[in-house]
Amino acid sequence: MASEWQDRLDAACEAAKKAGAFLKDIPSFSVEHKAANDYVTDADRQSEEMIRSFLLERYPSDGFLGEEESETSGRTGRWIVDPIDGTTNFVKGLPLYTVSIAYETQGRIVAGCVYCPPLDEMYTAMEGQGACLNGKPMHTSGNPVLRDAVVGMSFAHRHEDAGKRMMHVLPAMRSALSDMRRLGSAALDLCFVACGRYDAFLELHLYLYDIAAGALIVREAGGIVTSWPGDKEKVEENGNVFAASAAIYGGLYDMIARAEGNGETLKPDAIIVLGHRLNPDNTPSDDLKRRIDKTVEYWKETGCPVVMPCGGKTRGRTRTEAEVMKEMLLERGMPEKVIKLENESRTTGENIRNALKLLGKDALVALVTADYHLESALMDCKEYGLKAYGVGAVTPEGPYREKVYAQAAFMKRMREERRAQAEKLGISMEEMDRRFMEERRAAHDRAIASGMTEEEFMQKSFAAMKQRLRDMGFDPSVMED
Ligand code: IPD
Ligand code: CA
Ligand code: CA
Repeated sequence: MASEWQDRLDAACEAAKKAGAFLKDIPSFSVEHKAANDYVTDADRQSEEMIRSFLLERYPSDGFLGEEESETSGRTGRWIVDPIDGTTNFVKGLPLYTVSIAYETQGRIVAGCVYCPPLDEMYTAMEGQGACLNGKPMHTSGNPVLRDAVVGMSFAHRHEDAGKRMMHVLPAMRSALSDMRRLGSAALDLCFVACGRYDAFLELHLYLYDIAAGALIVREAGGIVTSWPGDKEKVEENGNVFAASAAIYGGLYDMIARAEGNGETLKPDAIIVLGHRLNPDNTPSDDLKRRIDKTVEYWKETGCPVVMPCGGKTRGRTRTEAEVMKEMLLERGMPEKVIKLENESRTTGENIRNALKLLGKDALVALVTADYHLESALMDCKEYGLKAYGVGAVTPEGPYREKVYAQAAFMKRMREERRAQAEKLGISMEEMDRRFMEERRAAHDRAIASGMTEEEFMQKSFAAMKQRLRDMGFDPSVMED
C-alpha cells in the first residue's frame, strides 16, 4: 500500500512542479471576479488542466476534484487539487502562492504535497510516514507558551458570519500571542505550522481543496488539526480550521473557546504527568513540583476524570517518582479516585506505551511536563499513536532553564540520529529504542563481568556521553548535575 501511495505522491510532486514552473514564468494572464473579493485567472484554469491531464493520464481510474472545473468520479482514489492557492497574491505579484494536491482513497487523505513556486519549497506527507520540506523531515514547533506564539490567521473577508466570528476573537488573540500573520494561502499557512515557522493557524470557512494536503502535512509533522471550539462538524466538513503544534494546541484552544464564550474548553480523557528525577533523599525536585502544580491547575480547569503520574525509580533512590507524585497530588486536594498509578516505567516512551494500553488509542490526553521536555515527549506520543496535546510547566528564567534547554537540544539531535538509523534498518522507533536499551544493558553486564565496578562503569558511560556532546558542538557541562 505504502509504495502505491508513494507512487501517487511522486506523481503529485511532479505535477505540482510542472504547474509551479508554468505559473512562475507566465508572461501574462487575464483576471475575472468569481464573486466579491474572489479572483480567478486563466492561469488557475490552465494550472488545473495541466495537473488533471498529467495525473489522469497516469492513473486513468482515479477521480478528480479541482477548484475550478466540475468533479469527475473514478473507481480508485480521488485527487483533490487547488491549482493556485493564494490567487489574490498571485494577481498582485505577492510571492506567496502554492499548488496543493492531495490523494484520497477509501475516504482518507493518504498523501499530499504543497508546492510554493516563488520559494521553491515542496512540502510533502504520506499517512503514517511523517512530513518533509524539500525531502528533509520536519516537525511542528515545541513551544508551549502562548506569549511566544506566532499564529497565522485570516480576516474571513469573503464570508460575513465567519468574518464576525474572527473579529470577535481577534482582541483576545492580539493580547495573548506574540504576533499574528495573514499570508493569503491557507495551504502555505498549514505548511508553516508543519515546519514550525508558525505555532498555529486559524481560519474559518475554507474548502476541502484548500486544506486536504496541508492538514495531512501538519498531522504528519506532529501537529493537530480540528475544527474550532464548539463546532460539531469535522474540519473537513465545515472548513473551520484550527491547526496547531501539539505543544500549543490545548492552551490556544481554551483561549479561543473562552474568547468566544460559547465554545467548550477542551476536555481531555486523561491528564498524564511525566515525572522528574527525585533528589537523592527521595524528595521532589523543584522541576517536579512545577509539573505537579501545573497538573493540579489544569485538572481544576478541566475536571478531567483520570490523572496519571508517571515515573519509575532512578538509581540510588528508594521510592518511585509516581509514588511521590501521587502523594503530592493528594496533598494538593486531588481525590484519590481520579489518580491512576500504573505507570512506573523509567523512560518517557515506556510510560507513553503503558498509558496507551490503559486508555486505548481513542483517548485524548493532556500531557503535562516541563516546557523544555514537551517537544520530545509529544514526538513520543505521535510515534506510539497516543493522541495528545501538551500542557507545559514553565521553567523560570535562569541558569537551570538554560541548562535544561541545552540538554533538550542535545537529546533532540540524538533522537534524530536514532530515527535516521531506524529508517536505514527499516525498523520502528520502538524497536530501535528496545535494541538501544538492550545494547546498554549488555555493555553494562560485559563491563561488570570483566571486573569493572558499577561506579567505574557509570563514570565511563558519562565520559563517553560528554565526548559525544563535544563532538556535536555542545558544552559537555550541560549534562552535569
Ligand atoms: C484562498 C486562500 C486564502 C484564504 C481564502 C481561500 P484561493 O484560496 O487560501 O488564504 O483566506 O479563504 O479561498 O481562492 O486563492 O484558492
Ligand atoms: Ca484555495
Ligand atoms: Ca484556488
